[in-house]
Amino acid sequence: MSQSSAHALPSYLDAGHLGPWGIYLQQVDRVTPYLGPLARWVETLKRPKRALIVDVPIEMDNGTIAHFEGYRVQHNTSRGPGKGGVRFHQDVTLSEVMALAAWMSVKNAAVNLPYGGAKGGIRVDPRKLSQSEIERMTRRYTSEIGVIIGPAKDIPAPDVNTNAQIMAWMMDTYSMNEGATATGVVTGKPISLGGSLGRIEATGRGVFVVACEAARDLNIDVAGAKVIVQGFGNVGGTAARLFHEAGAVVVAAQDHTGTVYNPAGLDVHKLLAHVSNKGGVGGFSGGEALANADFWGLETDFLIPAALENQITSENAGKVRAKVVVEGANGPTTPEADDILHDNGVYVVPDVLANAGGVTVSYFEWVQDFSSFFWSEDEINHRLERLMREAYAAIAQMSREQKVSLRTAAFIVACTRILQARQVRGLYP
Ligand SMILES: NC(=O)c1ccc[n+]([C@@H]2O[C@H](COP(=O)([O-])OP(=O)(O)OC[C@H]3O[C@@H](n4cnc5c(N)ncnc54)[C@H](O)[C@@H]3O)[C@@H](O)[C@H]2O)c1
Repeated sequence: MSQSSAHALPSYLDAGHLGPWGIYLQQVDRVTPYLGPLARWVETLKRPKRALIVDVPIEMDNGTIAHFEGYRVQHNTSRGPGKGGVRFHQDVTLSEVMALAAWMSVKNAAVNLPYGGAKGGIRVDPRKLSQSEIERMTRRYTSEIGVIIGPAKDIPAPDVNTNAQIMAWMMDTYSMNEGATATGVVTGKPISLGGSLGRIEATGRGVFVVACEAARDLNIDVAGAKVIVQGFGNVGGTAARLFHEAGAVVVAAQDHTGTVYNPAGLDVHKLLAHVSNKGGVGGFSGGEALANADFWGLETDFLIPAALENQITSENAGKVRAKVVVEGANGPTTPEADDILHDNGVYVVPDVLANAGGVTVSYFEWVQDFSSFFWSEDEINHRLERLMREAYAAIAQMSREQKVSLRTAAFIVACTRILQARQVRGLYP
């Protein structure tokens, strides 16, 4: 029973409080009946371990002083240090960062990485700042959250609007404050500063690997299979190229510039070159333009949403004629759409599994930084493929045993691992 007055802001424990954190709480409620005796510990998942709000003041190029809201949330560290990206976006809020941190706990546990979950962000539109303003903001933010991050405590990485350069500034600021070079404090760094080979392509490669595992389970031959991809950036472009190289036929691609369609198959290498020259798939001569809304109803074996959240909704989920949806993006399917796809027999490989290739190679980067011994790209890809295949197998087995979707199965596997660690560690003091 809520004891708050009608005008008070809802407690963060209130699952009716819509938004990403409310959706996350509903997901935890959905999985609780499957946790057996571990359900005793389930409140652990509903409360972030630690949330830090920081003020980030900087001097702007024009001499004025600007203040930005910064956050770092460590949702859970039962299985290891916090791990999760830093987002620079004008819509960042504490509750969004809490949800993103919680989903990192689930993702890291789902693929069995020895990490907890964390996330950070600054509420800012970085396109309105100069490079030197972004650098000052990044450094001040890093200094403010420096009390809770560190190679053995919590390891940030890039997310929306942050990149290898920003990771380099974060690593430098943390290292200057520590008085020692600490490459392992962030991942997604430039190769010259302890970054890992294979990191840029890792998420798209992971999408392709789990898609092949799903294909085997469903008796789909990847060679000759049809694929449609929304988002032709890092994740979607890489996944499309790997499908193409495996003999699949990429028949449609959609991004912010439009949709291109070729029933005989798009030449993915030419399309990638077109995107890098023109900034998007629109205007590609190797296919015809298609209305964006018609993309979702194309008959295909694989649909790869790899752009934004909330793309498959109750409005278009009923039109989807794909056999398999592999979620490259984070949160592309709304909970209502998920139920519709499930009822229509569409096999959905959920984001927490399908796009975990990125954090997996981030983990490899961290391990390489600790030993200062760097692996070849082949070795990295080989280890990534093995880890993703093992994660898929464990989650698919849980889905068969409990007769639940892969998404619910991923949550069961992940929450069980987190709460087992909580239980066996016990409560301190
Ligand atoms: N890069 C990673 O390692 C990684 C890891 C995990 C999850 N993800 C998720 O994958 C998704 C894509 O990330 P990315 O790194 O490829 O980003 P990116 O910026 O390289 O590409 C994003 C793509 O989305 C397209 N897009 C943007 N707005 C669109 C719209 N309105 N309609 C259709 N397409 C639109 C863009 O045109 C672009 O092709 C995001 O949800 C991200 O959170 C990325």
